[in-house]
Order: sequence, then structure tokens, then C-alpha cells
Amino acid sequence: MARRMLVAGNWKMHGVRSDLGEITAISMAAETENGTDVAVCVPFTLIERAVAAAPGFVIGAQDVHASAKGAHTGDISAAMLADVGAEIVIVGHSERRAAHHETNADTAAKADAALAGGLDVIVCCGESLEVREAGKAVATVCDQIIASLPGTVDPARMAIAYEPIWAIGTGKVAQPSDVAEMHAAIRARLAKEHGDETAANMRILYGGSVKGENAAELFAMEDVDGALVGGASLTAAQFVPIIDAAKN
Ligand code: 13P
Repeated sequence: MARRMLVAGNWKMHGVRSDLGEITAISMAAETENGTDVAVCVPFTLIERAVAAAPGFVIGAQDVHASAKGAHTGDISAAMLADVGAEIVIVGHSERRAAHHETNADTAAKADAALAGGLDVIVCCGESLEVREAGKAVATVCDQIIASLPGTVDPARMAIAYEPIWAIGTGKVAQPSDVAEMHAAIRARLAKEHGDETAANMRILYGGSVKGENAAELFAMEDVDGALVGGASLTAAQFVPIIDAAKN
């Protein structure tokens, strides 16, 4: 299967202008053409400067409004993100679902708006510890991701990120067997709902405490096509080893 690896950083609510040197350093390490795509999703306030600090490197955002424009105080449209040079946006992150009560339908609408506005999307899914312990993780996540996808499911313009909530920022990575099971189940469900070709070409990223030390093991799995990285994407020193693991 010739899926290109994608390693995306999610800076969350971290980063000011003095951190842009990290973006430049990450972009330089990512430069070599090797079948791996790399992106960093920064806070809105840094997008334009990050694009300038790393010409040719993919800078993304972490949220987008579902409407193209309108009376939405404090929100950001896809056209605004594209206007400052963003090329990709994360939607449906568990932190947005939890803190902003975003539903699967909200996530799908945001993904639609992003695609319509010319942005690629990373659509997130992932189960809570309670759901995992109840033995319902696979069924819950598969239902969640199918309901969160945009109307047009085009693997050339989107990726899925599986991020178990209990693994985010905790240092706990899911068991390799659980990651392999979940990624295979998501791909099988995609095939059922959207056809074999879409499923075969869709990149499914893992997220949750990915570090330089555990990336190679994750990337060796057949259905793991990259990573969505939080804390370890904030510095080139920590992020570049993850990019290198994807190259190998
Ligand atoms: P950490 O890599 O910090 O666990 O965060 C994962 C994540 O939520 C990326 O979107």
C-alpha cells in the first residue's frame, strides 16, 4: 500500500513569536523528499508568521467554524485560515469535544467547511478510559469517526487521527495490539461505508503521547500511517526524531 506517512504537530494553546525558530528548524528537517508529509498546526495567532518562517512547509490550524462567514464572535472561517496561508486544519479533537461540547455532527460540518474553503483536514476520534474499560472502544470509535466525516470523503484531502483520550498528554501510549486492532477496525469500517479504495488510501494517524522513543514501533504497524503529536511537537529536538522515525 503506497500511503504516504503524515506526521502532524498540534501545538494546542502553546507558542508565541519567540517560538517560531522551532518551526523553522522542524521545516528544515522535514525538507528532504522521502515519502513523508509533515505539518504543524499552530495557534491562530502564529499561522501567518509560521508560514513566513518556514516557506514551503505546511502550517495548519486547530479549529475552524462550520460557516463561511457571519455573526460568530471569536470564531474563524476556513477562508480566513487559507488567507493567512494555512493548508490544513484539525477538527473534532477530543479537547474541543470535551471543552466546547462539539459533537460528531459539528465535526463533520467543520470538515465540510474546511474542504469547501480549500483546506485539508485531520478528523479526530478516540475513546475515554471508561469506554475502553467497558470493552466498547472499537465499536464506539468506529461509530464516532463515521459520523464525524465530511460529506465527501477524499483520502487525498484528509486524514483520520485516532487519539485515545486517556493517552493524550499522560505519557501512556496504547498497547501496540490495541492500536493495531483499532486502526484495522477503522479501515474496515471505512471500506464498508465508503468503499475499498477510499479505505485503502486513507491515512490513519495515531495520537497520544507519541515520542521519539515510541514512534518507530507505532509506524511499523501496517495500518498506522503517521502520528498527530502534541507535547513532543513543540520543539525540533523532540519532533524531528519522530519525523525521522517515519522516514525509516
Ligand atoms: P500528546 O502528544 O501531548 O499526548 O497530545 C496528543 C494530541 O492530543 C495531539 O492532538
